[in-house]
Amino acid sequence: ELSGNGCPFTGESSARSLLGRTNKDWWPDSLQLDILAQGGKSANPMGEDFDYAEAFNTLDYDALKADLTALMTDSQPWWPADYGHYGPFFIRMAWHAAGTYRTGDGRGGGGSGQQRFAPLNSWPDNGNLDKARRLLWPVKQKYGKNISWADLFILAGNVAIESMGGPVFGFGGGRADVYEPETVYWGTEEKWVDQGAATRINPDEGKAIDNPLAAIQMGLIYVNPEGPGGDPHDAEGMARDMRETFTRMAMNDEETVALTAGGHAFGKAHGAKPADTFGGAPESEALALQGFGWLNDKEEIANGNITTSGIEGAWTNTPTQWNGDYFRLLLDYDYELVQSPAGANQWQPINQKEEDMAPDARDPSKKVPTMMTTADMALKRDPEYRKISERFRNDQAALDDAFARAWFKLCHRDMGPKARYLGPEVPEETLIWMDPVPEGSVPSDSAVADFKSAVLGSDLTVSELVKAAWASAGTYRNSDHRGGSDGARVRLAPQKDWEANDPAELDKVLSTLDGLRGDISMADAIIFAGAAAVEKAASDAGFDVTVPVTGGRGDAGDEHTDAESFEPLEPFADGFRNYLKTKATVKTEEMLVDKAHLLGLSMPEMTALVGGMRALGANSGNTKHGIFTDRAGQLTNDFFVNLLDMGTEWKPVDGSQDEEFVGSDRASGAEKYRGTRVDLAFGSNSQLRAISETFAENGNEQKFVDTFVSAWTKVMEAGRF
Ligand code: HEM
Repeated sequence: ELSGNGCPFTGESSARSLLGRTNKDWWPDSLQLDILAQGGKSANPMGEDFDYAEAFNTLDYDALKADLTALMTDSQPWWPADYGHYGPFFIRMAWHAAGTYRTGDGRGGGGSGQQRFAPLNSWPDNGNLDKARRLLWPVKQKYGKNISWADLFILAGNVAIESMGGPVFGFGGGRADVYEPETVYWGTEEKWVDQGAATRINPDEGKAIDNPLAAIQMGLIYVNPEGPGGDPHDAEGMARDMRETFTRMAMNDEETVALTAGGHAFGKAHGAKPADTFGGAPESEALALQGFGWLNDKEEIANGNITTSGIEGAWTNTPTQWNGDYFRLLLDYDYELVQSPAGANQWQPINQKEEDMAPDARDPSKKVPTMMTTADMALKRDPEYRKISERFRNDQAALDDAFARAWFKLCHRDMGPKARYLGPEVPEETLIWMDPVPEGSVPSDSAVADFKSAVLGSDLTVSELVKAAWASAGTYRNSDHRGGSDGARVRLAPQKDWEANDPAELDKVLSTLDGLRGDISMADAIIFAGAAAVEKAASDAGFDVTVPVTGGRGDAGDEHTDAESFEPLEPFADGFRNYLKTKATVKTEEMLVDKAHLLGLSMPEMTALVGGMRALGANSGNTKHGIFTDRAGQLTNDFFVNLLDMGTEWKPVDGSQDEEFVGSDRASGAEKYRGTRVDLAFGSNSQLRAISETFAENGNEQKFVDTFVSAWTKVMEAGRF
């Protein structure tokens, strides 16, 4: 079991943080713009009012597709199209845009056009895709704000497949661009694709890829095409690496085979010359190159002397046509290991018939041998992959369907519910990985009022109700828009059994609510009950607040739920509930910040929620950590007031590995409180302390309550589109 779902950062690396190396570490000389984004100033020139969905809906979609189709064969002298067709190049661009997605935290993927920015624009695996994006610019410029780069990357891939006769399942638009590199943990290595060096999987040492990562090495989308660490003979290791990395991007064996073979039905690999005869990656290149990298002189480019991966050649004899040639060549020929002109390991068919050879990319009258990468060879060397390959070899319709569906999933997996998909090519069929939720209905105000008073009249406590609502809504991830309160999947496996959710208590709360809810959906009931609890807690503390809830959530059943796909959503740490499964190599408070980011929260919102939830007694396991109050259950700012009180002295508890702290009366030494790293971060970190001071100040009590309620509401409504 290499996946290690839910356990981030349990690897052995010492200097571990949620960021690893950042763009500043990789490219210290590049122009730093961060100071212009200080104070919440946005880098987005379209401004906050711009509604991309609205703009997309005015797009002349058919005209755009026609222009993209024409672009495929409009070869440009500065980067001529292999075989006169850019289709394969655009497919690789789209695949690499989408393929950074990982299930572990839902980050990565093609959802916001990140391939335009470092580090992705300069990853070795994204070599020469700068040219593909630049080829698209005239189209992007023409349609402007009505099509985002992010949508255009994926749509260009779709049009490419269609224009070469391949099957597509549909297209959903709606990926709004961002204008800054997203801060994502891509790993801790200090070298790109360190050939020969240890990869992230080492079975001898029981080493698995750190969650949430999904690639085998820094700078790769998935695996090293030449084999594990560049070793082409390690067939078993190759299949293991592929299986592990594709699983982490939500692909099973069949999808992996269909995608890889389907992709490599098209185009060629580029390894005409040793890589060191080419320039560096875009982010490190000279100003005059205007964001281009990996360059060679013009004549070489014109002649097709290009190196990208270092592997050279096409997979099939028909590299711009969709058909079964890939599996025919893979399975019918034996292969021998050869080296490309750039020195890369690759496999060549033995005694290849001339009619099975590929055309030369620039001169169709010339024939050259086809090739397979070590990764392609896994589709025949691994017994499980081979069964699937043979089935596809004998059943083209099955391959068509599997490829179309897997490609659609690859490109849309990070978009969340189908309600977010735009445009005329959104498929009718709803797929299980979209986490469908049956439509709910909005309950009447009087039904809600009756339900809320019945809840408050029951024997359920504020703490229990707040915890259940959080367990339901707090799974949301702003990254891939999964999780959240809609569907009430907190009632279903696996969520109902997660340790962080205190299953026995949760079960009791849910069955009581079920008995009181009448016609209100369970999903709404959980959130209305949470709102009732927060309102009561505020009122008991002397504040009159209304917690707004937008009703209309539906209830999903097991039949709408791919339970296994929800496993990565299990919280390994949830600082809002003071929960930590086991100590990780990353600081616990950093995992709080990470979760707050996935929930879309600001610093004040995160702070108010933590302080407020401590006051409400919402810890997992009902621990006392951080409950710095003698009136738990009331929505007070006591957490901040008491944390900042100089009368308390804090010390780590022996043997707790700095996870638990005891706060004692500075004068008498008597124990007053217990706290976790997360609790103490709000007094220790200077920025969080500044916010905590604000919430602890006289006159700001209402400010705290209001911030808590709006942050609470944000989480409770998250994931509803
Ligand atoms: C090209 C590796 C999966 C589509 C390439 C190249 C390599 C590679 C080394 C050559 C790049 C160059 O030198 O220009 C792999 C590996 C995979 C994988 C190791 C997974 C184990 C996929 C998938 C797709 C895909 C899933 C799409 C569904 C393509 C296409 C090209 C390509 C269309 C040709 C690009 C061109 O002609 O310029 N791949 N690939 N690959 N890949 Fe993959």
